[in-house]
Amino acid sequence: MPKHLISIHDFTCDDILKTLEMARGFENNPYQPFLKGKIVASIFFEPSTRTRLSFETAANRLGARIIGFSDVDSTSITKGESLKDTIKMVSNYSDLIIMRHPLEGSARYASEVSSVPVINAGDGANQHPTQTLLDLYSILKTQGKLDGLRINLVGDLKYGRTVHSLMQAMSFFNPSFVFTSPEELKMPQEYKDYLVAKGIPYTETKNLHEGLNDADIIYMTRVQKERFTDPIEYERVKNVYSLNLSMISNCKPNMKILHPLPRVNEISQDVDNSSHAYYFEQAENGVYTRMAIISKLLEIDNLTK
Ligand code: CP
Repeated sequence: MPKHLISIHDFTCDDILKTLEMARGFENNPYQPFLKGKIVASIFFEPSTRTRLSFETAANRLGARIIGFSDVDSTSITKGESLKDTIKMVSNYSDLIIMRHPLEGSARYASEVSSVPVINAGDGANQHPTQTLLDLYSILKTQGKLDGLRINLVGDLKYGRTVHSLMQAMSFFNPSFVFTSPEELKMPQEYKDYLVAKGIPYTETKNLHEGLNDADIIYMTRVQKERFTDPIEYERVKNVYSLNLSMISNCKPNMKILHPLPRVNEISQDVDNSSHAYYFEQAENGVYTRMAIISKLLEIDNLTK
């Protein structure tokens, strides 16, 4: 096992499958306090609801204690302390660090100066590997397999770190993709080159209706206001897609709609009670998956299945 989880590339296909298997064990037995006496640091330099609270729930259920902050204004960073010094201090106080930060590459840097394992809880538009693992767990639970699925990624494919990590992780499992986005938010070329090198088929479209009826998974994303430097560009694309109930009336019976959340207007509320909606369950799966990730990085293996 790697010491840190910074990018989904830090996990092999075998690591991923073992993590999903552990997550299933935690879903069956959610209170397994193997981390009694351990301290987990949760340090969030950017807002979060699901990632922070599900990690903290996971650590609590494992019996660990939690320190940290979710408001940088309450820390000595406001006095000019560097990220390096902050991480060195926090790694002196804890057994594991969970960090979200707006700068791409900040999590990798933190792992290089930390004496304890670091988990990337999102670094700018770069990666969100724990979201990817919970997405994979959700896909496996709902589809009964990971192999050979057709996945539509919709919305902000340029800045959306969750789609970058998910696309790379799914590449182990022979997927095909439809990328649906406005011109301004297309999947970056480096990720498309990655798929080409692996022989994985994809198509690109601006039309949300295209390919919906063939999809096994429709993965909606929010247009991320916080990543735009030009507010006019954001205004132009912010409400570009909204999936509603009538649009999915001819979809595959077992098609599931995922969204990392928070949503703004990308999924109409009339979809929430449909059998295709799975985004709230997906967020719940984050607790079990993050219990597995913490346990794996701290090398706790003797879990009840
Ligand atoms: N999916 C996700 O990362 O949500 P939060 O920003 O609320 O953590």
